[in-house]
Amino acid sequence: MAIKFGRPIERKIGFMPLQAEAREMQAAPLDLAVRLRRNRRADWARRMVREHTLTVDDLIWPLFVMDGQNARAPIASMPDVERLSVDQAMREAERAAELSIPCIALFPYTDPKLRDETGSEALNPDNLVCRAIRAIKKEVPDVGILCDVALDPFTSHGHDGLLRDGVILNDETVAVLVKQALVQAEAGCDIIAPSDMMDGRVGAIRRALDQAGYPDVSIMSYAAKYASAFYGPFRDAVGSSKTLTGDKRTYQMDPGNADEALREVALDIEEGADMVMVKPGMPYLDIVRIVKESYGMPTFAYQVSGEYAMLMAAAQNGWLDGERAMIESLTAFKRAGADGVLTYFAPRVAKKLKDEK
Ligand code: PBG
Repeated sequence: MAIKFGRPIERKIGFMPLQAEAREMQAAPLDLAVRLRRNRRADWARRMVREHTLTVDDLIWPLFVMDGQNARAPIASMPDVERLSVDQAMREAERAAELSIPCIALFPYTDPKLRDETGSEALNPDNLVCRAIRAIKKEVPDVGILCDVALDPFTSHGHDGLLRDGVILNDETVAVLVKQALVQAEAGCDIIAPSDMMDGRVGAIRRALDQAGYPDVSIMSYAAKYASAFYGPFRDAVGSSKTLTGDKRTYQMDPGNADEALREVALDIEEGADMVMVKPGMPYLDIVRIVKESYGMPTFAYQVSGEYAMLMAAAQNGWLDGERAMIESLTAFKRAGADGVLTYFAPRVAKKLKDEK
């Protein structure tokens, strides 16, 4: 029922005489030269004037890998997302190729027995991520593979770096991250994505990649990554939420800062980043916008696990139209200036866009 001045327009009883009704609907025409509604009056017009559109080329699909064969394990806080054994991850990579999703991102659920103080499993050339890269590259060579560089899926304390006396060490961590990046490049990773927020890691990784003969391996830096509550479900997925001691506020950014994001991005560009990322996504669209406007770099946003969980939870409760909220949220990234989005919705969106064609 329509509401006017806080009251329903429809009358409860009886009918007004037709003429009186007509009189009520008439008003002196406004003298408007500009009526923005003209461009919205039909689907064809809306399509014609649309400024930003989501396409499959904008999608990077994060996948969680685990040990085992022919195995899939649900992640309670991320409905419809599963941890996958390597063979199953390969199937999903094939699906990415079929759907024309340009790139996937791999995250490991490391066996807790293999986690230690220094995250040494990150440097094992046969670790889960490296095995997944090799397997996928062999079968599905035309899908790009992006890998996180950070120690959190491998450390017993759940931090991205080396921990000594309650302090995350910067330079010592960078030395390990460089080795992790090389191990992943060796396995065939296309894009190294340092997500650790240590100072100087992009430059160190770039130099090491070049020296080791990997000049074509790209770096997408998690340049402006905030210490966010929205990573919770991801930490469930990689198994670091229970182990994480304390928080990540001495290395990830303070949510109150924007200028600092520009300094972070500027440094990463200087150090050799090919692409930069802002993370989380939706609560930080202002940052996406200023980064894109300030540097004109290929700029990505990560619609993180908590954003995904919120939308899925509301949709599953019938509180939101999930499909529409998904497309709207992703279109917002494009409008803000992002060139692409890491999103757990990637296969769903790609399928929807394909079906609509
Ligand atoms: C690891 C990493 C995190 C995410 C991506 N890489 C979590 C964290 O920094 O604690 C979050 C992704 C998501 O929430 O979807 N450094």
